[in-house]
Amino acid sequence: FKHFVSADQVTPTDALTLIERAEAFKHGESRQFANPIYVSNLFFENSTRTHTSFEMAESKLGLSVISFDPTHSSVSKGETLSDTIKTLSAIGVNLAVIRHPQSDYYRPLLDASSTAILNAGDGAGQHPSQMMLDLMTIHEHFGHFTGLKVGIVGDLAHSRVARSDMTLLKQLGATVMFSGPRAWYTEDFAQAGPYVEIDDLMPQVDVLMLLRVQLERLDATTRAAFTATDYHQTYGVTLERAKQLQPQAIIMHPAPVNRDVELASELVESPQSRIFTQMHNGVFMRMAMLEAVIDANHF
Ligand code: CP
Repeated sequence: FKHFVSADQVTPTDALTLIERAEAFKHGESRQFANPIYVSNLFFENSTRTHTSFEMAESKLGLSVISFDPTHSSVSKGETLSDTIKTLSAIGVNLAVIRHPQSDYYRPLLDASSTAILNAGDGAGQHPSQMMLDLMTIHEHFGHFTGLKVGIVGDLAHSRVARSDMTLLKQLGATVMFSGPRAWYTEDFAQAGPYVEIDDLMPQVDVLMLLRVQLERLDATTRAAFTATDYHQTYGVTLERAKQLQPQAIIMHPAPVNRDVELASELVESPQSRIFTQMHNGVFMRMAMLEAVIDANHF
């Protein structure tokens, strides 16, 4: 992994190797590097989990974090992202962890400098570290992927998590199904799996993966027509609907959760929920991803 930017570059073998390594970190394994390694986290979109857990992973690996605040950087003077990365590279930053609202922002950066890019989310494109921590969490519960039924429910159209996760889940032998508003079940999802009404989906799934309604990305008309109560009753996991889940099934959500919209608030920390486990696993998976990129680049 010279860069780690998309699900498309991850094979099932890579995924299983990274899960094994992340589980080792979770059980106390550590790693020290021979040379000092410098990393910057460039978040051009808001984040709590991804930003903080990358920082925690970097700290646990003994990396030196060089702070970067987009609002106080020369991006505000019109400097391009490409020139920003070249600048950080010239200063000596080895790794750049980047979240950006533009899908595929990373493509011009991959050959622009010697700085390795880890994609922390690009528009509605990819979210590979969320994908990897989701796979780790599923593997931790079931021990395998083959034959698992995964229902991905909610704001598919805007979801980089759904696009990343469905790719590897299918390659690893899981069946992927989708639900939520039909208008958000776009062609890329139709090619990956069927649309199933929420009440037909609930009793079938091993993994119920909910997605946040990304109100900030809805067009003005859709947003004006949106009501939390209607969405919850029509597409959400209500307390009543949750009773249809099989006992072994788990509830996942990349978070932040719109409580009582996609998921009843009481279910966020219910025994079947793995939402906070996902966040915890994210630290160890991000350690594994950073290590893989550092090793591939021989920093
Ligand atoms: N799941 C996720 O990407 O959360 P943040 O936006 O808080 O990083």
